[in-house]
Amino acid sequence: MPKKGIFLLFLMLFIALGTSMLIAEEDPEGEMCVPMGTIELKPPASVEAKRSPVDFPHSDHFVYYDCKTCHHKWEGASVIKGCTASGCHDLDAAPKQTPGEKIDGNYAVRYYKKAFHGQCIDCHKQIRIKNIEKECSAGLTKPEITVPGPTSCIKCHPK
Ligand code: HEC
Ligand code: HEC
Ligand code: HEC
Repeated sequence: MPKKGIFLLFLMLFIALGTSMLIAEEDPEGEMCVPMGTIELKPPASVEAKRSPVDFPHSDHFVYYDCKTCHHKWEGASVIKGCTASGCHDLDAAPKQTPGEKIDGNYAVRYYKKAFHGQCIDCHKQIRIKNIEKECSAGLTKPEITVPGPTSCIKCHPK
């Protein structure tokens, strides 16, 4: 019996050490917490919201897409920053356009709303378009239709 006890103790120690080493390897900074389930997306504090916040089923999207599809500046090792981080989509209003001047697209997309609508709605629309194309060219075989995400205002902003 005591022999078995010692063996178990070593086994537990081994497992504990092993898993802590694994975690350290996967997450060098040991800080990234990936929000699973649904994230509530709201405007920055400086904006008076016209619409209700958006329930974004974050992890549902992992099934189809790589993290970098959306976290497009992530190089794969650092802790992922939010979309409105400084230097990213950090403008809380659309840049003012003076007559005769064209605003550079890279600058315009720093407006957080443009960035969110651009990414969310554009991808959902593309799926819709692809599905219609598939329906038209599928002939007699049943087309495989993935359910697209919402594209209408109230589906994302209930109010
Ligand atoms: C369809 C787009 C999409 C995909 C795919 C996606 N994410 Fe996200 N993720 C978001 C959005 C949008 C947020 C909210 C960011 C914000 O509030 O500014 C977010 C937030 C996060 C955050 C929290 C960032 C913070 O604000 O601190 C982490 C961490 C994260 N995602 C990790 C991941 C990982 C890891 C994957 C791949 C398994 C992944 N995401 C895939 C869109 C996506
Ligand atoms: C690269 C493509 C892509 C991007 C970017 C993307 N989505 Fe989606 N979204 C999808 C697909 C595909 C589905 C359908 C998933 C399913 O039904 O399994 C979906 C589904 C959804 C749904 C419906 C889920 C349900 O259970 O009915 C919501 C809400 C949604 N997306 C919100 C967002 C928001 C908000 C963003 C931006 C932060 C976003 N999506 C970005 C592809 C995308
Ligand atoms: C796929 C989801 C999605 C759809 C569809 C969508 N939005 Fe948004 N919208 C967002 C996200 C995400 C944000 C950024 C988070 C926030 O500000 O609530 C946002 C931000 C906004 C904002 C700035 C914040 C505020 O509340 O004032 C307005 C205004 C807005 N959307 C209006 C609209 C209108 C009008 C439509 C229809 C033409 C629409 N949205 C369709 C996801 C969506």
